Amino acid sequence: MQQRILVTGGAGYIGSHTVVELQQSGYEVVIIDDLSNSSDEVIDGIEQITGIRPAFEKADCTDLEAMKVILNKYPGIQGIIHFAASKAVGESVQKPLLYYRNNLVSLLNLLELMPVYQVKGIVFSSSCTVYGQPDILPVDEQAPIKQATSPYGNTKQICEEIIRDTIHAGAPFQSILLRYFNPIGAHPSALIGELPNGVPQNLIPFLTQTAIGIRKELSVFGDDYATPDGSCIRDYINVVDLAKAHVIAIDRMLQQRTESPLEIFNLGTGTGLSVLELIRAFERATGVNVPHRIVGRREGDIEQVWANPDHANRVLGWTAKESIEDTLRSAWKWQVKLNDKK
Ligand code: NAD
Ligand code: WQD
Repeated sequence: MQQRILVTGGAGYIGSHTVVELQQSGYEVVIIDDLSNSSDEVIDGIEQITGIRPAFEKADCTDLEAMKVILNKYPGIQGIIHFAASKAVGESVQKPLLYYRNNLVSLLNLLELMPVYQVKGIVFSSSCTVYGQPDILPVDEQAPIKQATSPYGNTKQICEEIIRDTIHAGAPFQSILLRYFNPIGAHPSALIGELPNGVPQNLIPFLTQTAIGIRKELSVFGDDYATPDGSCIRDYINVVDLAKAHVIAIDRMLQQRTESPLEIFNLGTGTGLSVLELIRAFERATGVNVPHRIVGRREGDIEQVWANPDHANRVLGWTAKESIEDTLRSAWKWQVKLNDKK
């Protein structure tokens, strides 16, 4: 019999790619999403790719009663992947309470309901933002957690602590915290991808919108950092590679192969790329020019961070496989598709 997995935020960017991989691995998926940062067209995209339409419930994870109704409607949920959260760093500085309420209450509701519905495990979307500027690079899971620089980042740290305390108190379920580095790209079919809301704050959607002519030029935030070319360095991880790690994490929990009830993994490529290198890689991969200009630093930016993914490589048997060129081509194909639809 198919095992049933609840995916909160499953209509979102990383969630939708994960639903595809789960369905292609034989899981039955129930999506909960309030569509606050996504569209139900994504469900069509998932169906077109996989031939299976996932169950979809439009609901807010902060609404405990609505969550109970859904868990009653879909009995036997074995595991949860919890993507649902607000994620815009700048907005979180302006509206901290919205971020604390949405991100913390959603998690609290799920953790309270899991024992009632005998859910065996929860995979939580965390972020490399918990490391701040690491003292040692590449950064591994033992690195100290640095004080958060935004309410958004703080919600990730607090959520990790809430899960840690709950497991420590003997909760009858397991958890895997996945710390993503910088997810980019889209499904190779270009049927799903990242749907930026308004002016993109993240590099890749701004870059592809510039390349296609929606934006005049890409601002490169600083070339005076202590990096080889002066621009910031990140670990850009393909979203499909990232999605696959979630399936492995779910398999691992449901097959009781975890080494402890709480496990933590960095999900990155292990390679850092500067902003200027990334622009050049995009131009090489697509043949499309990206008008760009160096401007001042963006407040709050980390200078350089990239993952030591050895733990995930060894323990999960997971490695990032896609090349940066293929990944950037997938982002470009998705941007072209979005433009054609307009
Ligand atoms: P996204 O905004 O595309 O997806 C999140 C989804 O959750 C959206 O579809 C949104 O409508 C939904 N949602 C938000 N609040 C909800 C609520 N209360 N109830 C139900 N649905 C709700 O974001 P994403 O990039 O796919 O990120 C997924 C997760 O990964 C988030 O938790 C995010 O913080 C985390 N993360 C993202 C990145 C990144 O760079 N994209 C990096 C590290 C961690
Ligand atoms: C990448 C690099 C910018 C835009 C954020 C969150 C983090 C995580 C991922 C969820 C940086 C530079 C960007 C632009 C630029 N999310 N840049 N011009 O800042 O690494 O991380 O998203 O957990 O928490 O903080 O990602 O894509 O915004 O920036 O030069 O127009 O691109 O300075 O070096 P970031 P990003």
